[in-house]
Amino acid sequence: MRSVFVIGSSMSRFGKIAESGRESLTKVCFDAIRDAGVEASEIDSTFYSNAFGLTERQAHVGPLINSALGIPGVPSVSVESACSSSSAALHEAFVHVASGLDDICLVAGSEKLSHLGTLSATTYFAMGSDFPFEAMSGVTFPGLYANIAVAHMKRYGTTQEMLASVAIKNHANAMHNPLAHFRKRISISDYMESPVIAYPFHLYDCCPFSDGSAAVVIASEEKARALKQELVEIAASERGGSVATLQDRADITSIDGAVAAARRAFSRSHIDPGDIDVAEVHDCFTIAEIIATEDIGLFPKGEGGRAAIEGETAIGGRVAVNPSGGLKAKGHPVSATGVAQIHELYEQLTGTAGGRQVGNAEIGIAHNVGATGGSCSVHILRRVR
Ligand SMILES: CC(C)(COP(=O)(O)OP(=O)(O)OC[C@H]1O[C@@H](n2cnc3c(N)ncnc32)[C@H](O)[C@@H]1OP(=O)(O)O)[C@@H](O)C(=O)NCCC(=O)NCCS
Repeated sequence: MRSVFVIGSSMSRFGKIAESGRESLTKVCFDAIRDAGVEASEIDSTFYSNAFGLTERQAHVGPLINSALGIPGVPSVSVESACSSSSAALHEAFVHVASGLDDICLVAGSEKLSHLGTLSATTYFAMGSDFPFEAMSGVTFPGLYANIAVAHMKRYGTTQEMLASVAIKNHANAMHNPLAHFRKRISISDYMESPVIAYPFHLYDCCPFSDGSAAVVIASEEKARALKQELVEIAASERGGSVATLQDRADITSIDGAVAAARRAFSRSHIDPGDIDVAEVHDCFTIAEIIATEDIGLFPKGEGGRAAIEGETAIGGRVAVNPSGGLKAKGHPVSATGVAQIHELYEQLTGTAGGRQVGNAEIGIAHNVGATGGSCSVHILRRVR
């Protein structure tokens, strides 16, 4: 396989945004191409994700965005993998460049959800779970992850205060992210006094429904070296799968697909979990960050909650987790999330993350899961001097 590099990226502001998903997606693609320093005509293939595009009465966005970019003849593909859609799209693009099929690919994801309201958005999202067995039994995503949280609390002694510490940290990190959905510091009393959504989750345990888009341009080593001084390599791009339905899993305190993808990613890149300086992980709910940090090997099983409450995952701690604010506070426009994590790592590894910069960041990991982890992606990025 050839080495693959990130050469440009962009993300829109996340939150309640007036513009359509199509407008927002087009803009981030233009920005990422400009950031990469290439002409759109140099792109060999494009990969787009827009899982809930049908709520805007628009599917098949690829040809629309390519036409707007002035490259209607470039082949495009849409990749849907629930909340891990655009990281799955990135994996496909990685394969195209690593195999030598393509030299430069554009990967982008977008979602527009704010026109739906909480009830409709929850109903659409439920289609990403096992609809007849989970959604039709009345379990929404907050409910599914609440079950996971209760199991983790019971087995490992994870506490409500540990969950709260994840939310407080991620809200604090997002204060330094001008593109975040929420730029609002919260205290333990804000957390405890916020409404209960699904026990043990309060409002601040949950990610919001966000609008937003993100894009990244990747290239072969030859192209990357011709264009960039600062090189960021995708040292590994791995995917994994888990039993789809929560009730059918032997253990719900861990996500098998994420564990497998992370193991393969570390093995392929010859990097150890202890080498990671910065991690962007899928904290759709606070417990998900705790489990993610265990699943990818940053902390031993059962230790994720303790690590969070003791500040080991803060910027300046042992390993900075979700310096962007994560899905919790940066926001979660489903199909933009995977690529937005890569955007954050690219900024961290090129030293352009501003007030949330992690000191001497050389190696980063992105962990992104679809639904409750039926589909998972792990990417390791490394700064190359
Ligand atoms: C938690 C949740 C139920 C809250 O929805 P809601 O009760 O309808 O909240 P509203 O949209 O009416 O917002 C009420 C207030 O809470 C804020 N808010 C909404 N969701 C929030 C969240 N997740 N975190 C922090 N604040 C939030 C809003 O900004 C608003 O603040 P304001 O009054 O200052 O303007 C909803 O955000 C949710 O379901 N999140 C999970 C999404 C999900 O499942 N994603 C898939 C993951 S796999």
